[in-house]
Amino acid sequence: IMNIAILTSGGDSSGMNNAIKKFVEYSYEKGYTPYFIYRGLEGLIDGKIKKATYKDVSGIIYRGGTIIKSSRSKRWYDKNYRKTAYENLKKHNIDALIILGGDGSFRALKVFYNEFKIPFMGIPATIDNDIALNEYSIGVDTALNIIREAVDDIRDTASSFSRAFVIETMGRECGYLALVSAIANGAEMCLIPEVEFNLKNLKKRYLKEIKEGRDYFIAIVAEGLKISAKIKEWFDSEIGFESRLTVLGHIQRGGAPTVIERLRASEFIVNALDNIEKTPNKIVTYYDDKFVLRDLEEIENSTYRLDEKLLKLAYPLMGKE
Ligand code: F6P
Repeated sequence: IMNIAILTSGGDSSGMNNAIKKFVEYSYEKGYTPYFIYRGLEGLIDGKIKKATYKDVSGIIYRGGTIIKSSRSKRWYDKNYRKTAYENLKKHNIDALIILGGDGSFRALKVFYNEFKIPFMGIPATIDNDIALNEYSIGVDTALNIIREAVDDIRDTASSFSRAFVIETMGRECGYLALVSAIANGAEMCLIPEVEFNLKNLKKRYLKEIKEGRDYFIAIVAEGLKISAKIKEWFDSEIGFESRLTVLGHIQRGGAPTVIERLRASEFIVNALDNIEKTPNKIVTYYDDKFVLRDLEEIENSTYRLDEKLLKLAYPLMGKE
């Protein structure tokens, strides 16, 4: 292997730039020539490939997003476009690929490997943190910190005005961001798709707490449930509390990467580049505080599970007895 290209795919996340910077620097250190593929799989199809230099990655360490841009590609499902992508790689003599993204992105490169034998390494990067057998994806820590800040801010107004605030967090079908945020930010309610919740129990508790003096509420609801607006109404009608809904939205995807994010992004890249020759076509996962290489099949054959210890902490916020 001589020439390795990196691409970012799917939802961008903070920390991707740290990985990109380390990729360029560590590639040169190891004697590889690093390349960028712009706009993810779309750019691979369109031949947006360029040799990467130190200059490209100077001054990007504190910036969220991805300087090489990202996309979700529908064309990739068409073999003709994948063939074009392969020809583009050959034109630039690219021998291997590193992809930052979610499991859909990993699958895309696995299919590509099966057809054209271009080795790859996958690195989890998504704020959703929804990859099985992987406890940390690039972007998660920054997203959690953005949410923390937002909830702190909302608490100022919620407490001043004695209101209930329903705050919707991202995560697709996964409740990880909501779960951790609810615990870390002392929310009164945490609703996520993975766990059955009980509004009756919550109501009983809230009414008792109101009698005892509680005068505002913070409720965190995962977007995957699609019930944030209903829960806001519920506070109005069932709890008798004036309420507001704040959908945090895409602010959760941006922002300067946290220290943890920067460190882990670099470590993910070092693990990928150190192993791409001897054990290619793996996903670098973070598990039990270690980096573990896994086959995509292993990940696909297991289901994502939220940490039992975290769930237990949040059960009272879901009305579970
Ligand atoms: O997968 C990351 C994510 O931010 C999800 O949390 C969210 O549901 C989705 O992407 C939003 O997609 P888009 O950026 O296309 O609106």
